[in-house]
Amino acid sequence: IFSIVFSGNHHARLIARSPMVDVEGLKREAGITACGFVRSGMKLGLGTGSTVRYTIIEIGRMISEEGVEVIGVPTSESTRELAESLGIPLMPISEADRIDLTIDGADEFDPSFSLIKGGGGALTREKEVAMISDSMVVVADDRKRVPVLGEFDLPIEVDPSRWSEISQAIRELSGTESTLRGGTTSPYVTDNGGFILDCKYGPTIAEPAILEEQLLSIEGVVQVGLFVGICDAVVMATGSGVETMVNPVGRLY
Ligand code: 5RP
Repeated sequence: IFSIVFSGNHHARLIARSPMVDVEGLKREAGITACGFVRSGMKLGLGTGSTVRYTIIEIGRMISEEGVEVIGVPTSESTRELAESLGIPLMPISEADRIDLTIDGADEFDPSFSLIKGGGGALTREKEVAMISDSMVVVADDRKRVPVLGEFDLPIEVDPSRWSEISQAIRELSGTESTLRGGTTSPYVTDNGGFILDCKYGPTIAEPAILEEQLLSIEGVVQVGLFVGICDAVVMATGSGVETMVNPVGRLY
């Protein structure tokens, strides 16, 4: 926090500096702390992204070193590969009718525990898994906490053959511009074979449930990266420690 600086006359001065934020360290802290919600015997939804990656690694450790027994339901191919490499027993979504707990990352969360997800492109499977879970815990660092959703471009998974007309429909719906992830020459393709439109709402999404419903009614929209009424707690790492915020109207309260 302080640096010692020697000035020309060799008198040392203490200069206050803002501490360097170790974002990777924060992600790790949040990811590992969330494992406090994991119990032996659980069926666990395993999210996607660089924060929940630490959760998955920790679950692998709990299995091999502590004998914890869980079955994971991965939300993406990358998570499946990571979990498999760690020896976590897995079950595909198609076979999981109910899940005890899902732990996942988020791109933004607001004071009502509504989320923007899909920065990693896995929003459709992530929502599918979260919806059949008894509870959902989000792991994040404090950069993800916002007063109003939308600074992060809202990801929407769409039918690849209709992305252009959907982009136009979104413009007509809310005057919002969207970009095709990856660009038109080599678009990003999701694990489901869909394309992603990243929509520039800006921090204006005060009624995410209404917007989600409007967007889902556009033909060809597969899924919207708004998660409303799904997240029960956020494990948030800050420079001064990890804070677990429990949704007062959620299922863990
Ligand atoms: C993937 C997601 C991720 O959970 C979200 O993008 C957060 O990822 P990270 O922890 O890497 O910031 O929604 O579709």
